[in-house]
Amino acid sequence: MYRMSEKPLISANEIRERVTTLAREIAAAYDYDILISALTGAYMFTADLTRELAKAEGAKVYQKTIAFIKASSYGNSTESSGKLQVRGLEKIDLKGMKILMVDDIADTGTTMLGLCKMLQEAGAQEIRTCVLLNKQERREVDLTADFVGFEIANEFVVGYGLDYANDYRFLPDIWTLQETN
Ligand code: IMP
Ligand code: MG
Repeated sequence: MYRMSEKPLISANEIRERVTTLAREIAAAYDYDILISALTGAYMFTADLTRELAKAEGAKVYQKTIAFIKASSYGNSTESSGKLQVRGLEKIDLKGMKILMVDDIADTGTTMLGLCKMLQEAGAQEIRTCVLLNKQERREVDLTADFVGFEIANEFVVGYGLDYANDYRFLPDIWTLQETN
């Protein structure tokens, strides 16, 4: 059994402020062609990030496009199954494209690294990665995210798009899920 922490780990206000700054960091550093977002976890982050990117990039943002893919490696558990399934990538023309790959969280790093390899194989010119949350302690593969919202400890978190067995996604804050017994 799990229960939510008593207070949010990261409040909606803290998220809003950081996403604004993160968008400015991205806009200053990387002129990508297409932002690819990994559903479902990154949907809320992506909606907020793109609006902030529009403010930070000005007219440059008119030329940028967005695409969504579905990446899954988790079953109904807090441990990764380690197997990455990706849908929707085949519909996007990636040849020669500069890509900003966005996900909710880098945990073991398997998902993001796997996605980057697929983008590379599909002919992407350049790939940079952006995650709202990074659990560096849990890393199992050689992945360093280029843009990170928050570094967090080795805890399972929910809210702001992130789920546990598809629950909790609508919460505006990020909460820690604790095991009870
Ligand atoms: P990785 O492949 O181990 O890096 O895991 C990445 C994916 O696992 C993310 O896209 C999330 O969907 C999920 N995930 C990892 N940690 C958490 C967490 O703390 N809460 C919710 N989902 C998580
Ligand atoms: Mg996910």
